[in-house]
Amino acid sequence: MVHFFYLAAQFLRRLMGLVKASITGVHGYTPDYILTNKELETMVDTSDEWISSRTGIKERHILKEKGKATSDMAVEAIKGLLQKTNTRPEDIDLTICGTVTPDTVFPDTANTINHKIGASNAWGFDVNAACSGFLFSLSTGARFIESGRYKKVLVVGADMMSSIVNYEDRSTCILFGDGAGAVLLEPSNTGFGLEDEILRGDGTGRDYLVMRAGGSLNPPTAETVADREHFVYQDGKPVFKAAVKGMTQTVQQVMERNNLTSEDVTWLVPHQANYRILTSVADALGFPMEKVMVNIHKYGNTTAATIPLCLWEWENQLKKGAKLILTAFGGGFTWGATYLTWAYDQ
Ligand code: COA
Repeated sequence: MVHFFYLAAQFLRRLMGLVKASITGVHGYTPDYILTNKELETMVDTSDEWISSRTGIKERHILKEKGKATSDMAVEAIKGLLQKTNTRPEDIDLTICGTVTPDTVFPDTANTINHKIGASNAWGFDVNAACSGFLFSLSTGARFIESGRYKKVLVVGADMMSSIVNYEDRSTCILFGDGAGAVLLEPSNTGFGLEDEILRGDGTGRDYLVMRAGGSLNPPTAETVADREHFVYQDGKPVFKAAVKGMTQTVQQVMERNNLTSEDVTWLVPHQANYRILTSVADALGFPMEKVMVNIHKYGNTTAATIPLCLWEWENQLKKGAKLILTAFGGGFTWGATYLTWAYDQ
């Protein structure tokens, strides 16, 4: 029944000629410094063998320059994006930044980005959805385009995880890296674009993956700092299990209601948290790994940046009309899957 109403709504949408949002460009940025598993061996009790076999990660990029923050990586990604799409910063209407590492708690990072790129006619805001930050931001941006009032929306996923990772905690410091990826959303003129999504956030996992202090529940004190509560805390096993389940289910649901099989889908683009999560999700869905974008070995988990960094890296292989399923899972828990058709050939 739900399926019927969904198809009817889609049909009506087409009939009424409603605007569809499409990605018209993508670009990424990772800082120069590379933190290898070998270097981590000198910092905590770990080994390249353990990290590689348990996570698939070999190295991650770290922003080391003093005075630089999340917005600076976002700006680098956006500058490349504006150049390749021939877009003037003053033509941007809105910037949405998915991040859990804003430059400051407030003002938001999107604001700072607009200032730094010269987007003088834009407004913006941050979306805090942990590793689902890009997916949730993309959905939000698409609604603005679909409204007909917004023509150019920047959606960026950017995180400087090194600023909230405890480099004495071997269970988390090996996982994360820094980076940013950005896409431009515009009204589709090809018929391709964002087709459907199933997004979720239920709060059931908030104790398993969390920064315990610094918010209104536990404001910063000398004690919270001494207790290292301003770093990422993670209980990895329940997160792992919930990630596999959440991504698999939402991808399955979105494929079902769009009558897609794994053969129909050109690329599965999953959030990069752990190679074993990626293979478990792909196996459960019947996707061969050749159809799954994987770059976790080079960047680790860059939180909101992993999906746009994948799209950036694969951009020259993406053909107009290609069917992509993006899927993510993150702290909260937050998760979901987005189905889109690629709108351009590079
Ligand atoms: N090097 C060596 N040993 C390590 C280690 C490290 N870096 N980190 C943990 N260990 C040890 C543990 O202390 C434990 O030892 P013990 O058995 O003596 O107690 C053992 O390895 C197993 O630890 P465990 O936490 O059970 O490992 P795991 O197989 O669950 O893998 C993660 C840990 C973090 C890699 C995994 O749980 C994971 O990827 N979780 C999800 C992460 C994620 O997706 N996060 C982002 C949200 S999307």
